[in-house]
Formats: sequence, C-alpha cells, structure tokens
Amino acid sequence: MKKLSFLMFVAVAVLMASCCGEKCANKAADENKNETAMNTTMNDLLTRRSVRSYTDEVPPMEVIEEICKAGTYAPTGMNKQSPIIVAVTNREVRDRLSKLNGAVFGPGNDRDPFYGAPVVLVVLADTTVFTWKEDGSLVMGNLLNACHAKGLGSCWIHRAKEVFETEEGKAILRDLGIDDTKYVGIGNCILGYTAGDYPEARPRKENYVYWIK
Ligand SMILES: Cc1cc2nc3c(=O)[nH]c(=O)nc-3n(C[C@H](O)[C@H](O)[C@H](O)COP(=O)(O)O)c2cc1C
Repeated sequence: MKKLSFLMFVAVAVLMASCCGEKCANKAADENKNETAMNTTMNDLLTRRSVRSYTDEVPPMEVIEEICKAGTYAPTGMNKQSPIIVAVTNREVRDRLSKLNGAVFGPGNDRDPFYGAPVVLVVLADTTVFTWKEDGSLVMGNLLNACHAKGLGSCWIHRAKEVFETEEGKAILRDLGIDDTKYVGIGNCILGYTAGDYPEARPRKENYVYWIK
C-alpha cells in the first residue's frame, strides 16, 4: 500500500512538472512573440514614408479591408468614433476625386494629385463631435501605417475638406447616405504598390523632443 502511494505521488509530481514546463515554454514563446510584434511595429512606424509614384495594380480587396479596419481602431475622443472612411477602389470615382482635388489649386491644373495611386481612402469626420479633427487625423495615421505594414505605399493627400464642400463632392456623400451637412473631409489616404525607389526619411529637426526628467 505504502509503495502504491509513493508511486502515485511520483506520478503526480512528474505530471505537474511536465505541465509547468509546457506552460513556462508557452509563456516564453508568447513573450517572444510580443517582443517581435513590438519590434515590427516600431520598425513600421520609423520606416513609413510618403510614396508619390504607383503602379496601376489594385491591391487585393481583403488587404484594403484590413487597412480600413486598422483605421477604425484608431483612438477617438470619448470613443465617439466620429470619423468615417469612404473607400474608393472604383476607377471612375477615383478619377473624379482626383479632378476635384486638382481643381482646388485653380483652373488649368491637370496634374493627378493622387500620383497614379489606384485606391483612395477618404476620411471625413462628424463635426458635431468636439474632437472630430483629432479623431480623423488619427484614423489617417492608422491607415498610412497599416498600408506600410501591409507592404503598400501610401500618402496623405490634402484638400478633402474643399472637395467635399463642392456640390459634386456633396452629391457623392449623399449617394452613400452620408449627411453632407455634418461630415467634413480630413484627408485622402492614397495607396497602392510603390513604383520605383522607396523614399528615404529626411533628418528630424533638432529639439523635436523637450525632456522634463
Ligand atoms: C496634413 C497633411 C497633409 C499632406 N498633404 C499632402 C499633399 O497634399 N500632397 C502630398 O504629396 N503630400 C502631402 N502630405 C505628406 C507630407 O508631405 C509628408 O508626410 C511629409 O513630407 C513627410 O514625409 P514622410 O511622410 O515621408 O515622412 C501631407 C501630410 C500631412 C500630415
């Protein structure tokens, strides 16, 4: 009887030790994964650049959807989620937006302000929410960084405000059931596959950060 209890004790001890070993190994693997993810995020934040030359190829819809999802997870004041994203993959609408954007510079400006990028994610925000501008800008930031994380080029293109103040711009919003009296354009995140060399970061200015330690 004594021998049996001893054997049972040894069996339980071995089982516990092996469970702990597995748990410890899993924890270490998780920590390793977290560290890798953190390093990847830091690297993406430091290496994202504004791309101004694109191929015509439209990236897969699932990738564009994932990028939009990253946009929707940006922080917003009091979690009001004031921004919206109008994701334009339709060539005809993309070209109309490009013309409207260029027209903000005045007549006779035929340059494509979207630099040939095939996709435009327009961010607008609900101006009845106090933090609309900040909310919208953070969504833009998430979109730009998500594009980079997915291996795509991107750039913030301005003048979304002016474009969606025009009758044609407002009509695009109304067609989507968006209240054109409430929403104001924040920016256009153009995206696509980079053509040519990837731009390098310019040096950071001095005294960007003031420390109070
Ligand atoms: C609010 C805002 C508006 C911008 N508007 C334009 C634009 O209309 N056209 C453009 O080519 N780049 C635009 N940019 C991109 C900046 O020129 C770019 O971020 C800056 O030169 C730094 O380069 P980097 O993004 O590669 O670090 C804009 C960026 C911001 C934040």
